Amino acid sequence: MESGVAVEALTEDQARAELKRLAAAIAAADVAYHSEDTPRITDAEYDALKARNAAIEARFPDLVRADSPSRRVGAAPAATFQPVRHAVPMLSLGNLRIAPSGLDEAARADWERREAADFDEQVRRFLGLDPEDPLAYTAEPKIDGLSLSLRYEGGVLVRAATRGDGETGEDVTANARTVADIPARLTGAPDVLEVRGEVYMRHADFAALNAAQAVRGERLFANPRNAAAGSLRQLDAAITASRPLRFFAYGWGEISAPLAKTQWGALQRLAALGFAVNPDSRRCDGIAAAVAHYFDLERRRGSLGYDIDGVVYKVDDIALQARLGFRTTTPRWAAAHKFPAETAWTRLERIEIQVGRTGALSPVARLAPVTVGGVVVSNATLHNEDYIAGRSANGTPIREGRDIREGDLVKVFRAGDVIPKVADVDLSARPADSRPFVFPDRCPACGSEAVREPGEAVRRCTGGLICPAQGVERLKHFVSRGAFDIEGLGAKQIEMFWADDLLPIRQPADIFTLAARDEANIAKLKNRKGYGAQSAEKLFAAIEARRTIPLDRLIFALGIRHVGESSAALLARHYGTWAAFEAAMTAARDEAGPEWDDLLRIDGVGPKLARSLVAAFRNPAERAAIDALVAQLTVEPVARPAAASPVAGKTVVFTGTLARMTRAEAKARAEALGAKVAGSVSARTDFLVAGPGAGSKATKAAELGVAVLDEDQWLALIGAG
Ligand code: IVH
Repeated sequence: MESGVAVEALTEDQARAELKRLAAAIAAADVAYHSEDTPRITDAEYDALKARNAAIEARFPDLVRADSPSRRVGAAPAATFQPVRHAVPMLSLGNLRIAPSGLDEAARADWERREAADFDEQVRRFLGLDPEDPLAYTAEPKIDGLSLSLRYEGGVLVRAATRGDGETGEDVTANARTVADIPARLTGAPDVLEVRGEVYMRHADFAALNAAQAVRGERLFANPRNAAAGSLRQLDAAITASRPLRFFAYGWGEISAPLAKTQWGALQRLAALGFAVNPDSRRCDGIAAAVAHYFDLERRRGSLGYDIDGVVYKVDDIALQARLGFRTTTPRWAAAHKFPAETAWTRLERIEIQVGRTGALSPVARLAPVTVGGVVVSNATLHNEDYIAGRSANGTPIREGRDIREGDLVKVFRAGDVIPKVADVDLSARPADSRPFVFPDRCPACGSEAVREPGEAVRRCTGGLICPAQGVERLKHFVSRGAFDIEGLGAKQIEMFWADDLLPIRQPADIFTLAARDEANIAKLKNRKGYGAQSAEKLFAAIEARRTIPLDRLIFALGIRHVGESSAALLARHYGTWAAFEAAMTAARDEAGPEWDDLLRIDGVGPKLARSLVAAFRNPAERAAIDALVAQLTVEPVARPAAASPVAGKTVVFTGTLARMTRAEAKARAEALGAKVAGSVSARTDFLVAGPGAGSKATKAAELGVAVLDEDQWLALIGAG
């Protein structure tokens, strides 16, 4: 994962770009986790993204985005199911603290007992009970699935809803009806009864489902929990019906008459009504017995046949539950006692390097398959080259400096549904002939140089457009809005054409030869699934319309790292024509000489961007892809700002309402005249253009003695009045 520049070192522009990137990355992770049921990053990586976002926002409060991830919790329910407001919110559970790693068995057992005793003490204190007073609990397996609320009216199942954000879930009634453990009718139930419990999948069923998915060439599920979630949240209930889902009932929401006086009694009653309740739940006379059950379940965890991630303790007496009530989001009468992350030792057979979308090289450990908590693990992440070498990004040792090598006996660590990690290595079991792992300096997918920039943990492929691993994503960028923005050619179509053997698009130039190649093919695009004569013609016309492209858009579209929309515009204005730009990039290849110096002199171009640019032009394969593309295009020159412009080289900030132009227009015009447009006022600001409603920026400008102009004065200054 990208760690990027230290937050303290970010410029405002970098911070803005970084916040944008983080918002997108966190949103994508949220969607993957909550709505698509496939977590793409580990919890730790997710937390790191959130933490970085928060740190940048703290340093640049003005830059907090309207869609900032700090303002959201998780993803909103997918739009495809009807929202259901829960009559009684579906809350979550507070957790006892997880034991620190590295404790020996006795110390760890002590820790767990103490944590549970603390919970018991809190409950007693709240209720005013003495330590000797009897207080019973249930200890129930905490099933690792997804919670579901089933509403019965007059004994008939009328609604099934997922938890969602706890207040509002998704209506999955049709799907829930296909689950064998969920009765459609109940006899002798209260008139209104919302049964709550967990949908899950057994290990054996999960394995069979994934095997069937593999045979059909369909997506594999990461783990039983994701398989259960993905199966329940199908728009086509027939698919849900074909999936081996199960349900354990453990609680209730709205209810017109109590089920029982105790939690234990309620579980019996739910069983009598026809629900599956967990056979490993116990009624315990005190917290000590509940913890004993916790240890017992931890020992038997691997042989239960389904995933549990801990034990839930609940005060048994429902009248006491009512007195204890809830904190904001969790009950005082229950707590989750989770198992520590599971570990297992196995042989690391090989270290492989995967190439991600931005060209990041990620090392993956291929392991001799080993069962970690009931799940067979054969791959684990190794994070980055420093992690393998046994040091952190700032050089301090990790694992006391022990490196990880192919052939090593390693400790694999798996917590919940995240990607397993290699956590440690047993040096005493290291083969005599082992060698330190040499992290490649070439991309395994395309052979291009892989470089690691100072301050970054990640090494990246510089192959850009020619690297197949990066190819698809780079093409998506190429056709995106600020770039070529070709109508009818979006991410979905790029993926389709990428995989198409008859009419492939593998590099940008292929887009502009598409029509001609189709002409030469016997099988025509217009006869393909998803395309008709009209839509094929429309696509070709949309591509044709972009054959003429302004220089700044072209530079941005190339997708060279660090070259965003605004730096592309700066470069385009500086060089004016493609020929001049290309000649300069070629001449600056050695990162020295007059062209290199000239590049660095552009305000807004730093050494990082400059290095990345010339590296792209120096790379023969990428250069060939660029040349092939440009041969297809007419590149419109960009007017260089008149040196005589009164605002050339000045920094301008716009604030308040502008009457005669939009903000975007004002910015574009100012930039065309060689001004730099900034988002906030500082000592370096030359003009503040303030419309009605200008607030703190005007005050700050006055404080700093920055010239303040109204819109008309500004237009007069730039000769547009
Ligand atoms: S009781 C008000 N009992 O764990 C609290 N939850 O971390 C109601 N879970 O959202 C939850 N097994 O999805 C309860 N025996 C059990 C459970 C259980 C699994 C899940 C449930 C809940 C989450 C809380």
